[in-house]
Amino acid sequence: VKWFFSLVWFVVLIDIFCLSIFTKMHAALGICILSAVICMGRGHHYVGHDHAKAQTHQDTAPDDNIVSLVTAANQNFGFRLYMKLAAHADSQGKNIFFSPISVSVALAALSVGARGETHQQLFSGLGFNSTLYTQADIDQAFQKLLKTSSEETSEGTAVFVDHGFKPRPEFLETLKQFYFADGFNVDFTNSTESANTINEYVREKTKGKIDQLVENLDGSTVMYLLSYIYFKGKWATPFDPDLTKEDLFSVDENTKVVPVQMMNKEERFDIYYDQAVSTSVLHLPFNSSCSMLLMLPNDMKALENAICPAHVTKWLKWMNSRKYDLYIPKFSIKTSYSMNDVLTEMGMTDMFGDQADLSGITEGQKLAVSKVVHKATLDIDEAGATATAATGIGLIPLSFQYIPVLKFNRPFMVAVVDRHTKNILFVGKIINPNI
Ligand SMILES: *[C@@H]1O[C@H](CO)[C@@H](O)[C@H](O)[C@H]1NC(C)=O
Ligand SMILES: *[C@@H]1O[C@H](CO)[C@@H](O)[C@H](O)[C@H]1NC(C)=O
Ligand SMILES: *[C@@H]1O[C@H](CO)[C@@H](O)[C@H](O)[C@H]1NC(C)=O
Repeated sequence: VKWFFSLVWFVVLIDIFCLSIFTKMHAALGICILSAVICMGRGHHYVGHDHAKAQTHQDTAPDDNIVSLVTAANQNFGFRLYMKLAAHADSQGKNIFFSPISVSVALAALSVGARGETHQQLFSGLGFNSTLYTQADIDQAFQKLLKTSSEETSEGTAVFVDHGFKPRPEFLETLKQFYFADGFNVDFTNSTESANTINEYVREKTKGKIDQLVENLDGSTVMYLLSYIYFKGKWATPFDPDLTKEDLFSVDENTKVVPVQMMNKEERFDIYYDQAVSTSVLHLPFNSSCSMLLMLPNDMKALENAICPAHVTKWLKWMNSRKYDLYIPKFSIKTSYSMNDVLTEMGMTDMFGDQADLSGITEGQKLAVSKVVHKATLDIDEAGATATAATGIGLIPLSFQYIPVLKFNRPFMVAVVDRHTKNILFVGKIINPNI
């Protein structure tokens, strides 16, 4: 009994180019945001720059109302982003897995340095109403969302600044205070060395899981903003490795099947069958706050087109506990996205071009985002030696005679949710556990 739902990592990489006002571009500013996941927790500490504290924010307690509105906006953003990614040509025939909350955090941190129409687009793209909220409100909400820490999970951000680049002190200060950024000075003219510095930081923060975040660093980069998140959850009730057997997974209707290691467990599970989208939803808890939801639809397209935060709320509410013979594949997947297209489609256009106004990051140089990249991995495997008692509250089934089978042996969707904060930490679609 040594089963873990294991590590989840993801990376958002935002490269920002400096556009010279008078000539074609020269120096480039890279902002790279790497993230992984977290339920309740985050550890943070400050390193590096020692700027005088900029009093751009008042030290008032964040309004809980703003926090819940930001959470609702993040949920919405996450599913809008899922639909864009799923519809994208590059995603066809591939697994999808990413962290909505990570992308929101990354873009919110970027918006700290955005001004004018660029800021407006980031704000409305993320679902924040600028009539009602200022950037300072949003910063405070994220500070609260990201604040708590735990042993199993860690999360943070870092800024790598070139010796010759002068960001506004208040930009760095806000990232440190509200997004918990570490600060480092590097020499980006030596791209090998600076890439190594960044990669080493990420390797350490992700416990070796991501060891080559940056491969070819543009020599004209002047800044990297990096954020990481690490998540590790243990199933509340583990699977028995002895019951794991090779089985088949149907990748598509054209009878393409692939072999998988299928885990098995027969016991009480919380399940909801959603008639409206013909989907069985399985609730697999890690603990009292974090859960994984696995959605097995009859028609993937119908589920993908319908899924929204209200569904997740409904499923969690109406789950019923009863005995099932459950089969879930062991899998390990990696994803990588260039998000320029989808973010542009979502209205965040100006930051990528001549129109970009990122004057909140620095004075004197015109900046633009060159790339937003998001990477994620998800592994479900055995690791370690911890067993926990079964939880699972519910009604006693009327009959023990018939035990239905729930077998995730065809494409399904998955989400990692925090039931307390309502954050959707990850969402994805597994169409082939072998790629
Ligand atoms: C933003 O809030 C204002 C004031 O409540 C409202 O009139 C407007 O419709 C909101 N905008 C969006 C996009 O929701
Ligand atoms: C760049 O850094 C690497 C590693 O520290 C070093 O070996 C190399 O000599 C440096 N290159 C230049 C041009 O300074
Ligand atoms: C639940 O599990 C997650 C992931 O391991 C952990 O970060 C979090 O602190 C746990 N929460 C509680 C209340 O134990």
